[in-house]
Amino acid sequence: MTAREPVTILTGASAGIGMELARVFARNGQRLVLIARRGEKLAALAQEIAAAGDPEPVVLALDLQQPGMADKVDAELAARGLEPLYVVNNAGFGLVGKAHERDRAEQLEMIDLNIRTLTDFSLRWVDTLARRQGGILNVASVAGFLPGPGSSVYYASKAYVLSFTEALHRELKGRVRVTALCPGPVRTEFQARAGLTAADESGAMGLLAVPAARVADEGYRGLMAGRRLVIPGVLNKVVTVLPRMIPRSWVLEGVYARQRRRR
Ligand SMILES: NC(=O)c1ccc[n+]([C@@H]2O[C@H](COP(=O)([O-])OP(=O)(O)OC[C@H]3O[C@@H](n4cnc5c(N)ncnc54)[C@H](OP(=O)(O)O)[C@@H]3O)[C@@H](O)[C@H]2O)c1
Repeated sequence: MTAREPVTILTGASAGIGMELARVFARNGQRLVLIARRGEKLAALAQEIAAAGDPEPVVLALDLQQPGMADKVDAELAARGLEPLYVVNNAGFGLVGKAHERDRAEQLEMIDLNIRTLTDFSLRWVDTLARRQGGILNVASVAGFLPGPGSSVYYASKAYVLSFTEALHRELKGRVRVTALCPGPVRTEFQARAGLTAADESGAMGLLAVPAARVADEGYRGLMAGRRLVIPGVLNKVVTVLPRMIPRSWVLEGVYARQRRRR
């Protein structure tokens, strides 16, 4: 039997942080499998990567909110003689507004993508990743350290990603590298998808914002170094420590005040 070629599976590669993660992994010689819904954006990125002389990525246009996507990706890899060395779970979205006032179906779709698919993709290839001494990079958020009134389901979804990924890091220690990447605010398509305007974000972004390319670079290096947690930006690190030092009721009021300013 011929050995399969190792690849990096990257979800949410058509925009923002995912697009920058693709560039970092490609620059470091990894062949990518780029996944998102917008196939034309993925194809353009694949072309850019190949034109730079890096391994030409495979493009899979898939809606990861649907069930069974890990099995589908696995079948696509097998048909091409590929298998994962790294899995990067980056696809995700947020919604701003009171949970009971927002569309419930859309919030459940967020859980399908941010939690269900991420969990499936994290567990699907563990044996292969262990054999190849590879890794899993899960994109959580600074929001995962806080309760998030005004964006409750999103914050809770990222608390899940953070808790699950840190636990998996411990369970797979010495076999598979597992890293949670926790960005603070990053200017991407995320804000418009969440229902925010540029005016909403002008103040909030300010000091905490870190460019997507830097977030991707730190995530890549953290994964390769086997780190459990990567939080780009000094002030964002402070934001993750503060909730452990002040009463929970203050944290709730502080986050709620910020989210209300954004609406
Ligand atoms: N930007 C921030 O301030 C920030 C802060 C902390 C954490 N994060 C996290 O970082 C990750 C990337 O966010 P971003 O800021 O780069 O957002 P973005 O610019 O909106 O990119 C999101 C990516 O996810 C993909 N995606 C969304 N729904 C999908 C679906 N149903 N199926 C397949 N792909 C889907 C999108 O592609 P298609 O639309 O083509 O499907 C896109 O490639 C997310 O997990 C987010 O929660 C972002």
